Amino acid sequence: MFEVKVELREALIIEGGNRLEGVLKVSGAKNAALPNIAATILTEKEVILENVPDLLDIKTMNLLLESIGAEINQIDNGIFSYRLSNPKSFSADYELVSKMRASILVLGPMLSRFGYAEVALPGGCSIGARPVDLHLKALEKMGAQIKIEHGYIKAYAQRRLKGSHIFFDKITVTGTENIMMAAVLAEGTTVIENAALEPEVVDLAIMLKKMGADIQGEGTHRIVINGVKQLNGTTHRVIPDRIEAGTFAVLSALTDGKVIIENYPFEYLEYVDKVLEDIGIYVIPVDKNKVMIKREEKLRPVNIQTKEYPLFPTDLQAQFMTLLCFADGVSEITENIFENRFMHVPELNRLGANIEIVGKTAIIRPVEKFSATDVKATDLRASAAMVIAGLIAEGETRIHNIYHLDRGYEHIDQKLSNIGAKIRREII
Ligand code: EPZ
Repeated sequence: MFEVKVELREALIIEGGNRLEGVLKVSGAKNAALPNIAATILTEKEVILENVPDLLDIKTMNLLLESIGAEINQIDNGIFSYRLSNPKSFSADYELVSKMRASILVLGPMLSRFGYAEVALPGGCSIGARPVDLHLKALEKMGAQIKIEHGYIKAYAQRRLKGSHIFFDKITVTGTENIMMAAVLAEGTTVIENAALEPEVVDLAIMLKKMGADIQGEGTHRIVINGVKQLNGTTHRVIPDRIEAGTFAVLSALTDGKVIIENYPFEYLEYVDKVLEDIGIYVIPVDKNKVMIKREEKLRPVNIQTKEYPLFPTDLQAQFMTLLCFADGVSEITENIFENRFMHVPELNRLGANIEIVGKTAIIRPVEKFSATDVKATDLRASAAMVIAGLIAEGETRIHNIYHLDRGYEHIDQKLSNIGAKIRREII
């Protein structure tokens, strides 16, 4: 039913300098929808998901679920029904997993429900090696026998997984989600120490509890899960995408636009809004979950450290780097989460930025303007930074490899055209 069509030669052409005016609506969060979809594996009953964003990664995850036997029906815009009553395979093949490392999220639920799972080892991606050792060590602690053969993780649990006391050496978002989904049907109690606090992790726990799971402590570093025999269906609404919202706040400030952002998830962006204020950008509520963005004439430089939630998210690092090129002084951004998440720096410098990388820190010196040229999108969030840069660069910016963008930003060219951006797709 789903096909993931990727046109590698598609580029986005943006004529910069337009003042943006109008309403930008924040879609459902990709990084909440992906674990929400994986969680539908845990029951034979029907699960309805609402506010599912229309993204390449969602299509890939739906394909993956269909390949193991899920029946998926689109009921309406953004509303899907999932039902996995009879599995037809226990293997998530490389073809799909190589497109999206979040496919690892099917490992926990498949092991938990069926006692067996084969998932292709997710390769690294452009931002780093992206190992899954913490996921696998935790599942072994829960009694799974895991071996890696010909690039596949083959995991087997005799009967059911066993509840266990899991200590994550590093905070891992999908690791916490995977183990939570493995633990909800395990025998006994699982305690996850050093769990991730991200809103998407909390939202997954809420969905699992609606399905009958026994979970406490979500949103803290210690989550306690008592395994139950089976889970029921439910209807769940995907939470708004805090990263898309933060991206919209930056682009409306930089274009000095009159932009209203709808479904702005304040509660997930407190730290980000504080940093925006330090820079001289104000997120002003105009209605329930609607905001408008105001800015000072001069933007102030700041120093940012990317950290786990609730501090500054690595997924907004590239977008804020673009913004800080126009601050009235030198800023620094240190990337502490991923080892190679500065590939947008040479692209921004081609547009006229003056950014120097020293170890894990980018030193951003102020420039007057960007001048348009050809740039390439390097990873999902960096591609958004290229769009922001294109909106303010003088002339026509051509962004290549925009399938990265389509993985994580729903219909962004339509959304931006609707508020006055001169933006079009072209096969080049
Ligand atoms: C999630 O990735 C997000 N993806 C990422 O968003 C986000 O950047 C990242 O969390 C950090 O916030 C989804 O939720 C689908 P991690 P995840 O495990 O879970 C290391 C986007 O743009 N690590 O929290 O893969 C890892 O290398 C994407 O939407 C291990 O060493 O990230 C990294 O340095 C990009 N071993 C750190 O931990 C492991 O087994 C945090 O990674 C797992 C992780």
